[in-house]
Amino acid sequence: MSQSAPQTNTRANYALADELQAAEARYAEANPNGLAQWQRACAAMPGGNTRTVLFYSPFPLTMARGEGAYLWDLDGHRYADFLNDFSAGLYGHSHPVIRQAMAEALEAGLTLGGHNRYEEKLAALICARFPSIELVRFTNSGTEASLMAVLTARAVTGRRRILVFEGGYHGGVFYFAPGGSPLNLPVDWLVGRYNDIGHAEALIVRHAGELAAILVEPMQGGGGSIPGDPAFLGALREAATRAGCLLIFDEVMTSRLGPGGLQGELGVTPDMTVLGKYLGGGASFGAFGGRAEIMERFDPRSPEAFPHAGTFNNNVLSMAAGTAGLEMVFTPEAANELSARGEALRARLNEIARASGAPMQVTGLGSLMTIHFGRFASGEIRSVDDLADANQDAKALFHLEMLARGQYLARRGLMSLSLALSEDDLDTFADAAADVLAVHGPLMG
Ligand SMILES: Cc1ncc(COP(=O)(O)O)c(C=O)c1O
Repeated sequence: MSQSAPQTNTRANYALADELQAAEARYAEANPNGLAQWQRACAAMPGGNTRTVLFYSPFPLTMARGEGAYLWDLDGHRYADFLNDFSAGLYGHSHPVIRQAMAEALEAGLTLGGHNRYEEKLAALICARFPSIELVRFTNSGTEASLMAVLTARAVTGRRRILVFEGGYHGGVFYFAPGGSPLNLPVDWLVGRYNDIGHAEALIVRHAGELAAILVEPMQGGGGSIPGDPAFLGALREAATRAGCLLIFDEVMTSRLGPGGLQGELGVTPDMTVLGKYLGGGASFGAFGGRAEIMERFDPRSPEAFPHAGTFNNNVLSMAAGTAGLEMVFTPEAANELSARGEALRARLNEIARASGAPMQVTGLGSLMTIHFGRFASGEIRSVDDLADANQDAKALFHLEMLARGQYLARRGLMSLSLALSEDDLDTFADAAADVLAVHGPLMG
């Protein structure tokens, strides 16, 4: 979801481009095995890639293994993992409880082709946690869960249109970054401005009779860790009720931000919720759930039940790992503690940026955050519009320089903490960021 900001050709920009080129050359030299692996991959996959978000220039690293809070690439470098698979890796790598649960599931056999003993447990744990979820169904990914939620809203309301927000990301066919995607699901989308109550209310009133649902991330993740104002989300709740459409929260990323997800923290309860990522314990996972009255439409005992197939919907590895994780590791206390650690790290990084004078700003909530570069007109980042002038070269240079210091985060600046990261790891990351800003900060404006 990159924004290509037009950058003026100032002397500082030329100097930054030179520094970036030099950093890319150092990176290529340090990663000959990674480069060869990616070149081989290009022969069988377009751009050597099967997951767009993992690509970055000059070529992406290939990871050989992960353990606890760390990753090792094909060239033997060790990284402290501050990306954690775009938030799916909440438990760190190979957490003993998750491993044990997966080993037991493997022992009992995969692809059983029947109900298994884990799915009921995981469903009960999820229903107990998330205020909006009285009944839940599982899918293979967050994308599929978004699809099911949107299509369910259309089926139960008998209406067609869906309101989403600029900068929103709800999966591979739900991409609402500036410029959009030719591969989006062919639905009658209305696109509102995130955190703009007046604009959203006007759209909802104008299209009330045809609006099936409002689909929104309570914090935009892929869009840049931009929190939704509680007032904005509360206004969407009221407007949805008035318009007779469903409010769907996409909590694929944000469900980790409190014991009951971000909805629990905000006290705003949607009609349906979409889940994914870490809730499968690190295996493929998605889920959609909501009010019983809506979800009961899937009850196969009814002759009019909505069909919802999926060979791997209840695959035992995800069900077993997800159950063990929620039951034994990511307890409500652990969720609160991780959020507090994330808040402290974000504040510290912002303080480092302020003290260095570098135009870096870290947005987010709890253990999810994104590092941005640029002197933003309004100062505050409340929507993707505010990021239109972001300095992408500065971000790329920061990324490569952090990799060179053994710190792993996304090229787009996204970070998500795992439970495995220690206080020492957080200190080392902050020191590395301070060092990068001390060396390159003056050019990053
Ligand atoms: C908010 C949000 N919704 C949905 C998805 C899609 O999930 P998946 O990648 O499992 O299809 C993502 C993935 O990043 C996401 O961040």
